[in-house]
Parts: sequence; C-alpha cells; structure tokens
Amino acid sequence: MSEARRVAVVTGSNRGLGKAIARGIAETGAHVVVTARTEEAAACAAGELVAEGLSASGHQLDIADPASVARTMADVGYQYGRLDILVNNAGIAIDRGQAAASADFEKVRATLDTNILGTWRCCTAAIPEMRKNRYGRIVNVTSHMGTFGEMDTGSVSYRVSKVGVNALTCILAAELKNDGILVNAASPGKVNTRLAYGKATSTPEQAAETFVWLATLPSDGPTGELFFQRRRLNW
Ligand SMILES: NC(=O)c1ccc[n+]([C@@H]2O[C@H](COP(=O)([O-])OP(=O)(O)OC[C@H]3O[C@@H](n4cnc5c(N)ncnc54)[C@H](OP(=O)(O)O)[C@@H]3O)[C@@H](O)[C@H]2O)c1
Repeated sequence: MSEARRVAVVTGSNRGLGKAIARGIAETGAHVVVTARTEEAAACAAGELVAEGLSASGHQLDIADPASVARTMADVGYQYGRLDILVNNAGIAIDRGQAAASADFEKVRATLDTNILGTWRCCTAAIPEMRKNRYGRIVNVTSHMGTFGEMDTGSVSYRVSKVGVNALTCILAAELKNDGILVNAASPGKVNTRLAYGKATSTPEQAAETFVWLATLPSDGPTGELFFQRRRLNW
C-alpha cells in the first residue's frame, strides 16, 4: 500500500449502504478497511473490492462490543500508521411501530447500545489515531427520523438513537475543530436496503455519494453539520 494513501474504516460495510460507501471511498484512491460482525463477512466484502482493483482489507468489528472496537482502531493504527476517515454507518432498526408510552426496554437498550453508544465508542477509539496526524474525517450516518422537524410516533428507540447521533456530531465537531478533524452527519433518505423504511427512493450507490463527499472534505470544509444529498439540513 502506498505511504500517502488515506486509510478509512467503514462500520457495517459488508452490505447495504455501508458497502456502497466503502466502495465509493476506495474509488477515491483511499485504502478502506471493510468491517463486519464476523471475520468471514468482512473478508468476503473486502475481497470484492480488491477484485475490482481497489485497495481494501477486512477486519472483524462489532460496534456493540467495546473490546472489538478498541482492537479494530488500534490494529488499523498499528498496521497502516494512520486512520484518516471513520464512517459510522452500522445501525439497527428493530422497533418499528413501537410507542414511547409502552416501550420494550430490551429493544430500547439494544438500539441505543448499537446506534448511539456504538457510534460514540468508535469515535473515541479512532480519535487518538487521527490526532497523531492532525487529520480526520468522521461521518455519522443519521436519519431524517432523528431530526426534530420530522419527529413523529413509532420507532421510538431508533428515533432517539439518531437524535443522540446528531448531538454527538455537534459536540465532537466543537471539541475537535482545532485538531484538523471534521465531524459531520448525513441522512441517506430512504434507501433500498434490508433496513429500508417506507418506499425506497434511492439505491445504496446513489445515497453513498454524500457520505463519500463528507469523508474526503478539504480542510476548510464544514463541521458539525447535518446533510441530505449535500444540502445542509436544520437539525
Ligand atoms: N435504509 C434506509 O432507508 C435508511 C434510512 C435512514 C438511515 N439509514 C441508516 O443507514 C445505516 C445503514 O443502514 P442500511 O440501510 O444499509 O441497513 P442494513 O442493510 O440493515 O445494514 C446494516 C449494517 O449494519 C451492520 N450492523 C448492525 N449492527 C452492528 C453491530 N453491532 N456491529 C457492527 N455492524 C453492525 C449490519 O451487519 P450484519 O450484516 O452483521 O447484520 C449491516 O452491515 C444505518 O445507520 C441506518 O440507520 C438507513
């Protein structure tokens, strides 16, 4: 691998939107560490990119497991000497139709542990590696369902988890603005994946474009913002 290549970690990149984001970032010339809950799924998805002539490798990563998160970011830093880009894509949606007034707290706990705490622990593990080179791009995958302007009933823990992701994005952006690390979030809209909410309006490849753009922003790019198809949204 060339010394100058940027190194990116994309969580949950064995399928769906994450896989399309990983491919898009690799197509910019970066090396992408494709991650999945099992070693086999990560190796298989990374192998597809390598077969296309792209630079990629696989690594096991379960964002709900603190040890797995710490090991992944440390391994990337050790192996490549850098970690430039983190896309927090992995997420679950397991409480469609669930009301806040009668919530199943096992589903709430599992959703928050993955979507908000998983994202947060990936950031805290990656930031020390980014700080070493005073360069970083963190891109959090959020949802319109977590914006106050679109707050509604149903999927309560999913909505709350994405509100948390939005808040974390703003807070980290403010903390890291003098470290060369830009932190943004984007909503992909309704994408044709296993998780899709409602009628999908785009393919994973179409939705990935905004995330690839945010992952490769110039140093004077935005930070602490929420986007949809490159347009800034109100939180
Ligand atoms: N699709 C939409 O319409 C839509 C709309 C708004 C926001 N989003 C957001 O887009 C992101 C990607 O979703 P998607 O639509 O591509 O869904 P998806 O096809 O269900 O993919 C989800 C990915 O996350 C991984 N994942 C789940 N829990 C994980 C964990 N604990 N550790 C590591 N990986 C984990 C899954 O791995 P496994 O294969 O092991 O399950 C899978 O790779 C999510 O954050 C979602 O909230 C999607």
